[in-house]
Amino acid sequence: NIRSLSSSAALRAAIKHVTVIGGGLMGAGIAQVAASTGHSVVLVDTSEDILKKATKGIEASLKRVVKKKFAEKPEDGEAFVQKVLKNISTSTDAASVVQGTDLVVEAIVENLKVKQDLFGALDKAAPQHTIFTSNTSSLPIADIASSTARLDRFGGLHFFNPVPMMKLVEVIKAPATSQQTFDVLLEFSKALGKHPVSCKDTPGFIVNRLLVPYMLEAVRLHERGHGSKEDIDVAMKLGAGYPMGPFELLDYVGLDTSKFIIDGWHEKDPDNPLFAPSPLLNKLVAEGKLGKKTGEGFYKHK
Ligand code: NAI
Repeated sequence: NIRSLSSSAALRAAIKHVTVIGGGLMGAGIAQVAASTGHSVVLVDTSEDILKKATKGIEASLKRVVKKKFAEKPEDGEAFVQKVLKNISTSTDAASVVQGTDLVVEAIVENLKVKQDLFGALDKAAPQHTIFTSNTSSLPIADIASSTARLDRFGGLHFFNPVPMMKLVEVIKAPATSQQTFDVLLEFSKALGKHPVSCKDTPGFIVNRLLVPYMLEAVRLHERGHGSKEDIDVAMKLGAGYPMGPFELLDYVGLDTSKFIIDGWHEKDPDNPLFAPSPLLNKLVAEGKLGKKTGEGFYKHK
């Protein structure tokens, strides 16, 4: 019974069976990491084709990991890949697979209504003890949870791209999230080999709340003619020790994603100058220059 858990070992043991919904960029990474750390994972998406692609991507990513990790013993590497892949199954029917799951991690499209509909349906199908989480970057966890009757067993698990590489998980405690649920999510993050930090259910949590306004400030500085993109990027890398400059990072994250986040915050808090839209960013997005994924953003990419 999840209510009687107290030790961290017991909290950790609470999550064995994980359902990851959405087999895109983030969901595939989350499934890979959960399976690599011994969890039994069901990956759910809307079509078999997408799931096949996701599984292929996971296999390729695992092979890259073991190439380094098992450089001395490639046979052990291959055995590890096979073992991890065995921990992952796939499905297009979320409602039926959640019947046997301890934890749902949702990583579908960033749309409140679509997420609410999904969780509303899962709430009826999942057992009492199952904890629901969203990987949302910009939507309030409480708003997503409102379509369910398990507000105490609903929290946020915000991973970073690429999931297998990035050590941080922001664990979000919404106002109604129980301490028990929150503790289980912290322990689960550690069991994944990640470093969790505790966040409140506030826009951008910690990382994006600081990073998005910072990137927009860089664009505004450039728009005022106070620095070239190249110089701003070099300055932040060599002067502040950042691994990427703000324009490189915007291209990596995707200009459309950054615009979506800032527009959402601006709508809710129009007087906050940190959330002001940027004409240059809007222009590039309108031109379809979204960054690395389209071959051009602030920079051209091969
Ligand atoms: P993506 O577009 O790569 O993947 C989304 C997947 O969800 C697609 O495969 C799609 O077919 C599937 N999907 C959509 N609706 C579905 C439904 N009703 N049921 C099952 N599957 C469904 O998106 P990505 O980038 O992986 O983002 C997913 C979530 O993670 C979003 O909420 C996003 O805000 C969040 N996030 C994204 C980060 C990033 O760097 N891309 C970082 C952290 C969080």
